[in-house]
Amino acid sequence: MGNDRNLPSHVGIIMDGNGRWATNRGLDRTHGHREGAAAVRRAVRTARAKGLRALTLYAFSEQNWGRPGSEVHALMGLLQDFLVAERDEILGNGIRLRAIGNTSRLPMLARSLLDGLVAASKDNQGMTLTLALSYGGQEEIVEACRQLAIRVSNKEIDVSDISVAAFRKEIPSLDVGEPDLIIRTGGDFRISNFLLFGAAYAELHFTDVLWPDFGEADIDEAIAAFQKRERRFGGVGGLHRPHHGA
Ligand code: FPP
Repeated sequence: MGNDRNLPSHVGIIMDGNGRWATNRGLDRTHGHREGAAAVRRAVRTARAKGLRALTLYAFSEQNWGRPGSEVHALMGLLQDFLVAERDEILGNGIRLRAIGNTSRLPMLARSLLDGLVAASKDNQGMTLTLALSYGGQEEIVEACRQLAIRVSNKEIDVSDISVAAFRKEIPSLDVGEPDLIIRTGGDFRISNFLLFGAAYAELHFTDVLWPDFGEADIDEAIAAFQKRERRFGGVGGLHRPHHGA
């Protein structure tokens, strides 16, 4: 166990390596995703037990629609299973579920299960679990631009009102605050279109562990590494995250 001092409040995870986990064992990639879903359950429990305020999981990127149909279908099935199987656990533990991304692209069943659980858990005060589904960080930024442009053209705001603070209010992934720590499993050193705007000052932690093998000890390691870093937010030390005003 790491110490509780300076615990990251919001942690984002890029869950990579399901395919390789399966291929290494001579199994179908789908099998890796199934084990990946089990790792999601563990991660949610662990994050909650450690007292994180928010956990954002990159479950399906906008670009993942380009995978073979059978793999997309399997991932959607696992999402649906997760939403059914974890319903009681989420509601019983005060977890607030939300989703970011273009969820209108999800199959109807997945979407209705998701919408139902998001609505049922909306007043929960414990950890917020955000599933990034059909999500892309660039897409999220472009949508924010579109929203601000609409408000300018409706004369609700002036061009000069567009600031970092105004912009960030249009970024749904930041409703739970900027990520303090972003973890990527699977050995690659990329951000892969995850939480781009909010990642500005996030600490990044990369591990070779493949997502299906990721467990409590790995979360502890990532948190311990975070706690050792000195965050300066562009300053010279001893500073806190800059505030951009209201
Ligand atoms: C990356 O592994 C993982 C994904 C594309 C999806 C993540 C999905 C899950 C963890 C399971 C289902 C999710 C929920 C919320 C129940 P990869 O296939 O890119 O692995 P590779 O790089 O080894 O090919």
